[in-house]
Amino acid sequence: MRRAKITIIGAGNVGATCAHWCAAAELGDIVLLDIPQAEDMPAGKALDLMQASPIMGYDSNLVGTTSYDDAKDSDVIVVTAGIPRKPGMSRDDLLGTNAKIITSVGEQIKATSPNAVVIVVSNPLDAMVQQMAKVTGFDKAKVIGQAGVLDTARYRAFLAMELGVSVEDISALLMGGHGDTMVPIPSCTSVGGIPVTQLIDTARLDEIVERTRKGGAEIVALLKTGSAYYAPAAACAQMVEAVVKDKKRVIPVAAYCDKEYGVGGFYVGVPVVMGSGGVEKIIELSLTDTETAAFKHSVDAVKELVETMDGLLSA
Ligand code: NAI
Ligand code: 2OP
Repeated sequence: MRRAKITIIGAGNVGATCAHWCAAAELGDIVLLDIPQAEDMPAGKALDLMQASPIMGYDSNLVGTTSYDDAKDSDVIVVTAGIPRKPGMSRDDLLGTNAKIITSVGEQIKATSPNAVVIVVSNPLDAMVQQMAKVTGFDKAKVIGQAGVLDTARYRAFLAMELGVSVEDISALLMGGHGDTMVPIPSCTSVGGIPVTQLIDTARLDEIVERTRKGGAEIVALLKTGSAYYAPAAACAQMVEAVVKDKKRVIPVAAYCDKEYGVGGFYVGVPVVMGSGGVEKIIELSLTDTETAAFKHSVDAVKELVETMDGLLSA
């Protein structure tokens, strides 16, 4: 059986770490691609990961490159190309620079891997994935943004830390954009099947949600030189796995919603079924009035971001 071909564009912190997780889980053969100015850096990282394989016991071939010829006919592409945040910057401060990068990366993907499922990671995520879908013209079910798996993982980790229980027993859902407006859904958050609201009072739960909303900024403030990458890369690997193993995972991702939730043609975080076809189904929950209002507020923030991006790109 042929192994899946996974290309990771951007061989920086998130990209290289994603290659690491994907190789360790033997999800396929991996191409790590960066810009020509990166010279031999992607080749060096790929070779280093190859040399780890006898110790860790994985059979994945890894190639580092600056040429899209090596990425031709990929099955899955993870796009981490772009600049990350530094302290004091919001994700939205990255908009102009990263929109141009995504446009050029999208054109190359369209020319070389027309059948790929594309997972976008670059920030500001909800606008970048919208731009990727526009540039490639791919079926929107196959262009997906990574945010919800990470945000939910942060929330689950904080809940497990609070309760002193296994992270494995925490099930949770956050919706909306990847930013300060993300929307927790308490009715979909449980600990070993027990509603979280029976274990943590509302005021404390609100504090944990607030920490989750600012989870990315908390890491930026600690690292000082860039943003988070271990958890973001693990989130990408989970999405890659969902595609290459056709897992039908029920996870929150930035998916293209038109009639769904009344969004009207934008990418936003919602629960989906993810498999070899990308987003195979968007799950529409019935939300409370408070959740609906918070989700609308989040979607409005995404729309404003996309409008600003379109203005910058056409200027
Ligand atoms: P990094 O600076 O370590 O790596 C980015 C890499 O992209 C660099 O090696 C750079 O040379 C490369 N690159 C730039 N332009 C390119 C192009 N046109 N083609 C190919 N490669 C190109 O940054 P890091 O930490 O890996 O973050 C990458 C992006 O992911 C940032 O925009 C960051 O904000 C975002 N991010 C998003 C997350 C999410 O949950 N959606 C989580 C973490 C990071
Ligand atoms: C994060 O949430 C920077 O979006 C990135 O860590």
